Amino acid sequence: MRKSIFVVASIAALALTGPAAAQQPMIVKFSHVVADNTPKGQAAIRFKELAEKYTNGKVKVEVYPNSQLFGDAKEMEAVALGDVQFIAPSLSKFDKFTKQIQVFDLPFLFNDIAAVDRFQAGKAGQDLLRSMESKNFLGLAYWHNGMKQISANKPLLKPEDAKGLKFRIQASDILAAQFQALNATPQKLAFSEVYQALQVGTVDGQENTWSNIFSQKFYEVQKDITESDHGVIDYMVVVNAKWWNALPKDLQDAMKKAMDEATKVNNDVAGKLNDEAKQKIAASGTSKIHQLTPEQRKQWVAAMKPVWAKFEGAIGKDLIDAAVASNESKTN
Ligand code: LMR
Repeated sequence: MRKSIFVVASIAALALTGPAAAQQPMIVKFSHVVADNTPKGQAAIRFKELAEKYTNGKVKVEVYPNSQLFGDAKEMEAVALGDVQFIAPSLSKFDKFTKQIQVFDLPFLFNDIAAVDRFQAGKAGQDLLRSMESKNFLGLAYWHNGMKQISANKPLLKPEDAKGLKFRIQASDILAAQFQALNATPQKLAFSEVYQALQVGTVDGQENTWSNIFSQKFYEVQKDITESDHGVIDYMVVVNAKWWNALPKDLQDAMKKAMDEATKVNNDVAGKLNDEAKQKIAASGTSKIHQLTPEQRKQWVAAMKPVWAKFEGAIGKDLIDAAVASNESKTN
């Protein structure tokens, strides 16, 4: 089936010669798993507008949000096969391609998104964009979402409160270890399956940003959300390296310019969209938002941080140190 699609596509491409070919825009697909009203959703739309403008219509970008075209695992495969050109998975989802990017999953590593931003802009962060080139994935940009909050149908104020509960996690071994450290059970699930899993009780809780908790309506099926800020959900915009490198220079430059501007839009709106989502959840009255006291926060840090030592060998101490340093300095 796949082969025949390729054959038909190739014949169609060959048939397009002369003036007709010149007018035919190149179709570029951008697939992602979140809603339009999220930082990533907004940035993908902005990228489409700008890429079409800067290429003078030579490129047409089709954006597929909400796992409409491909869900979590499939979207990576689709980029490798050339079925989609742009994806922006959460950094946690590169686990099976490289352990280095997993540095972002270490609990309580970054104090806030400003620190994440400094790390990504520094040498270590920029090198990570190219760390999967041997697997034919090229990172063009980081996009922020925000800090993760933890939820369940009971207040989670102390680490012991999570004991015995089952939490949905993204496909990352560090996140699995993080919940095991709480004596809870992690369950890897695609993003598109989380709402239902929470609703029917296949899992008891989850961790995510305010914008995802709101736009996917997780708050309707979770009574208690703790503002834990214990980790980060950010993205890497990734393309098939061979496809990107073979693009005509003018199109590549125009799409890079569009990507840089869309990145700025993403990073400008991320904080605001997450704040608004939090306010809307609070106003809905369906879930209670809990704050941690400094003492309670210390207990969560003590419970989760031992996970670092387990992954230090795989990630590399230098990389972890550079990430830690980004909490304080502007140049790491
Ligand atoms: C998740 O799977 O929880 C999120 O990473 C989804 C996303 O892309 O924000």
